[in-house]
Amino acid sequence: DAPSNSVAHVAFVGLPGSGKSTVGRQLARRVGWPFLDTDQVIEKRIGLSIREFFEREGEEPFRDLEQAVIDELTSGEPCVLSTGGGAVLRPANREHLKQRSHAIYLHSSPEDVFRRLRHDQNRPLLQVTDPLARLRDLYALRDPLYRESVRFVVETGRPSVPALVHLIASQL
Ligand code: S3P
Repeated sequence: DAPSNSVAHVAFVGLPGSGKSTVGRQLARRVGWPFLDTDQVIEKRIGLSIREFFEREGEEPFRDLEQAVIDELTSGEPCVLSTGGGAVLRPANREHLKQRSHAIYLHSSPEDVFRRLRHDQNRPLLQVTDPLARLRDLYALRDPLYRESVRFVVETGRPSVPALVHLIASQL
C-alpha cells in the first residue's frame, strides 16, 4: 500500500470535527508514514494547549505559528498531516498545501459537525452561545477556501472511516 513515488505528503483540511485526525491517523498506519497533527505539533512547541494560547495571545499569533509549522512539515519528511480547521485562512497555507501535498478536503455539513462536536469542550471557536450558527458561518466562509487548497474533495457523511481510508489510499 505504499504511495506512489510522486506523493510525499498527504494533508487533510476541513472543519473541526470533520474527521481529519481520525482518518489521517488510520491512513498513516496503512501507508506506513508518520501521522502529524499541526495543532499537536504547536502545543508541544509552546507548552500550552491551543485553547490557553488563544485565550492569552489571541488568534493571529496562533495563525503565525500554524503557518510556520505547515511550511516546515510540507517541505520535510513524508507524512500524513492533519491541519487545524482555520489553516486555510492564510493564502500561503492554501498554496503550500495544494502545491506540496496530496491535499484532501474532508467535506462535512455544519449540521454533521455539530452532532459530532456537541460535547467537546476543547474547540475555542465553538465556545459560544449558538455553536451551530457559528459552524454555519465558518462553513460559508471556509468551504470555498478548503476547495481552493486541494485537488480532492471527499464526502464524510455516509462512508465509515475504514471505507474512507480505503478510498483515499487507492488514490495515492
Ligand atoms: C481552529 C480549529 C482547531 C484549532 C484551533 C482553530 C479553527 O483545529 O486549530 O482551535 O479555526 O477552526 P481542529 O480543526 O483540529 O479542531
